[in-house]
Amino acid sequence: MSNVSSNLLVGHFPQTRLRRNRQQAWSRHLMAENTLNPEDLIWPVFVREESVEADFKTMPGVKRYLLSELLDDISKVAPLGVKSVMLFPTISRDKRDDNASDAFNEEGLLCKTVQAIKEHFPDVGVITDVALDPYTSHGQDGLIIEGEIDNDETLKALERHALVQARAGVDVIAPSEMMDGRIGAIRKALDAEGFQRVSLMSYAAKYASCLYGPFRDALGSKNCLGLADKMTYQMDPANLNEALREVAMDIQEGADSIIIKPGMPYLDVVRQVKDMFKIPTLSFQVSAEYAMLKYASQAGAFNFDDAILESLLCFKRAGADGIITYAAPHVAQLLADQRKQKSA
Ligand code: PBG
Repeated sequence: MSNVSSNLLVGHFPQTRLRRNRQQAWSRHLMAENTLNPEDLIWPVFVREESVEADFKTMPGVKRYLLSELLDDISKVAPLGVKSVMLFPTISRDKRDDNASDAFNEEGLLCKTVQAIKEHFPDVGVITDVALDPYTSHGQDGLIIEGEIDNDETLKALERHALVQARAGVDVIAPSEMMDGRIGAIRKALDAEGFQRVSLMSYAAKYASCLYGPFRDALGSKNCLGLADKMTYQMDPANLNEALREVAMDIQEGADSIIIKPGMPYLDVVRQVKDMFKIPTLSFQVSAEYAMLKYASQAGAFNFDDAILESLLCFKRAGADGIITYAAPHVAQLLADQRKQKSA
């Protein structure tokens, strides 16, 4: 810290009393350095085919949606200010194969969902994941060739996968499979087909975390993965410098915004990335973070509403411009209620 700023920070008791600003609600609200808005939130949703069950165990209050149900819920959530959704398809197990064939299906579940949302809600942002794990029989994000996740062969598949999504009308593509060079490859493929308007929200720093467990349940990829892990492509939770290198490379390759994932235990990474690169930075409160808050509140450890609002505010304080959270619809309602209370 420079001398100037450290001098400015000096205050002495009793002439300085920091509690003075906290005495009344209006003053606390006035002095607040950060606020949470529904527009800051992206709602991640699981969509399913008819043959796939709606319910799964590990995320209380979250289900897999049929398209018609999703359209219904978007019509309730969007007026509350949540203006973007991130889609994760759950296809039936028998459609998965070693080549991730359904990832290239222009009439598949994902493309149909994108088309329908854009048709009914042109002002709602639609974001899709680029990764092969919903489509592979082995549950890995990349293609396995001779026993290894083959980076450069996977890139070709990712380009095709991204193009299929772009043709369906998606606004933003979020590559989440952590292959080297994917942002550059996908950008080039999109531009070559005239999709300059489609942006890339890169999961630049995605860690090999146990906190994706419930998500893998939802997609049905946990069973496919078995005992295998994703350590050869997702990052070691021990590393921060490596995250900065990932972000730097993705920006150079054309990323429009950056995702750090998971969320709460990785907010130091968000702060560093924001300070260093000044790029729109998002953080993903992942499936098990949501589950932890739900289960702890069910056990009486705290009130869920308080916990979710506090956690999301902390993302903002850490520098996140946007937050991906499964609680988005509920939080939007809470924020609307809070707003009413504040102005009452
Ligand atoms: C897969 C993907 C994962 C998540 C988003 N995209 C899981 C994984 O990498 O195994 C996790 C999201 C969550 O846990 O909420 N490419």
